[in-house]
Amino acid sequence: MLVLASSAVFAILLIGLYFRRKPRLHIPLMLLAFVLDVSLVIYLEFARSALTTASAPPHGFVLFHVCLAVITLMLYVIQIISGIFVLIFEVPSTFHRRSACLFFLFRFSTLITSIWVSDFVPK
Ligand code: HEM
Repeated sequence: MLVLASSAVFAILLIGLYFRRKPRLHIPLMLLAFVLDVSLVIYLEFARSALTTASAPPHGFVLFHVCLAVITLMLYVIQIISGIFVLIFEVPSTFHRRSACLFFLFRFSTLITSIWVSDFVPK
């Protein structure tokens, strides 16, 4: 279910990437993906604290996935700030484009690891 939601957000990001030359579509799509991803993290945090009874430390794989997710959120912020610079101050988009590669690498890794992460969470 959560993998499905995460995949849907990834699809929105790909559509936003496709429209990278059309700021009127690109910007709202990327911001929508950001809001949905933050909502997913908040939902997971609440769901997890509501469901977790065991005090055992999380599995290494879960920690790895969480690190990827946190770095992805930080890269979102970098994309938003650099995007504002491109849009308002008309700086060249070189940095925004290069950091986008890193962003997609981490966002994709977060999605892939989310497929198995529930196997490592104590039931
Ligand atoms: C995850 C978020 C985002 C990613 C991955 C992303 C990625 C990209 C990429 C790859 C390009 C093409 C750059 C090039 O070819 O030189 C681009 C263009 C651009 N992006 Fe983003 N972007 C994101 C969010 C944003 C946001 C939030 C803004 C504005 C607040 C923004 C503003 C722009 C602008 C103004 C351009 C240039 C459009 C043009 O060529 O006219 N981006 N973005």
